[in-house]
Amino acid sequence: MNKVLAVGRFDAASRQAIEEKGWLRYDAITGAAEADEAERGAIEAVAYLGHHPFGPDLMDRFPNLRLISNYGVGYDAIDVDAASERGIKVTNTPDVLSDDVADLAVALLLAQLRSVIKADAHVRSGAWSRKEPFPLQRKMSGQKVGILGLGRIGVEIASRLAAFKMEVHYWSRSPKAEAASGWTYHDDALAMMKAVDFAVVALVGGAATEGFVTKEMIEALGPRGVLVNISRGTTIDEDALIDALEEGRLGGAGLDVFRNEPHAHTRFFDLENVVLQPHQASATVETRADMGRLQRDNIEAYLAGQPLLTPVN
Ligand code: DGY
Repeated sequence: MNKVLAVGRFDAASRQAIEEKGWLRYDAITGAAEADEAERGAIEAVAYLGHHPFGPDLMDRFPNLRLISNYGVGYDAIDVDAASERGIKVTNTPDVLSDDVADLAVALLLAQLRSVIKADAHVRSGAWSRKEPFPLQRKMSGQKVGILGLGRIGVEIASRLAAFKMEVHYWSRSPKAEAASGWTYHDDALAMMKAVDFAVVALVGGAATEGFVTKEMIEALGPRGVLVNISRGTTIDEDALIDALEEGRLGGAGLDVFRNEPHAHTRFFDLENVVLQPHQASATVETRADMGRLQRDNIEAYLAGQPLLTPVN
C-alpha cells in the first residue's frame, strides 16, 4: 500500500516526479478523504498543494499520518496546532520563492505608478494614434515605501525597492539586522503608513494577521497612496480597501491575493485604479519546480528517517 499521498494540481515537473515515485495522487484533499479505509490507513505523508483548510477532521481521516509537506512558504491552510497535537509534522518551502514573490511585488508597484496596464490599452485601442492625451505617471525613485513584515520575502522586497532609490521604511515585530543598511524601523504600523507614500504587505497569513491592515491604515496612505499585497488576502480589511479605492481615499492597489480565493471580489472589477493577479507571485517554471523538489525532499527525508529539511512545528 502507498505511504505517500500527493494532493493538488501540481506544476508539470512536480506532476511527473510524483508519477515517477508512484505516489497516490488526488486533486483535492476532500476527495482523498473519501478514499477507501485501507488506502487512507496506509498514508503516512501528504504532499499538500492547496488553500482548502486542512484541519483536524481531515487529518483524522488518515490515522497514520505523520507528515504534511506543504507546497508553498505560507502554510495558513494547515491547522498546525491540530497537527502537532496528533504528532504530525508540517514542513513548507521557504527561500526558493522569495525572489519571485519580491519581483512581483515590485512589478505591481511599477504597474500602478507607471500605469503599465492602462498605457498598454491606450496603444491597443488606437488612442495614442489619435493623439489622445495619456495622464502623467508617478515617480518611483525618491519616494517613501513602507514594508509591512520583514521576513525573508520582505527583506527581498526592501532590497529591490532600495535599488530603485526609494526610501525604505518597515514595520515588523522587532527591528531586523538585515535592515542595518539604512531602512527605517517603525514599531507602530499605523505610524509607518502615515509616514510613507506607498506600502507593500509581506506579512505571514493565518489567524495572527487576520485583518491586520485596518481601514485606518489603508486610508493613512491617502488619495495618492498605493497599496500592494503579495501575502494573503486575509491580512487586509478587504471591504475597507474596496470602499477606499471606490471613494478615492486610497489612490490605487496592486493585488496578487484575495480573501476568498480563487475569487476576487467582483467590486474590484469595476475599479480602474487596481491591478489584479491570480495569486501567482511564485508561479514561474523554475521556482515551482524548486518548490516541488523541496516538498518531495522533505517527504524523502521522513521516509529515510532523517531530519526534515524545513520543519514548521
Ligand atoms: C506561498 O508560498 O505561500 C505562496 O503563496 C504559494 O503560492
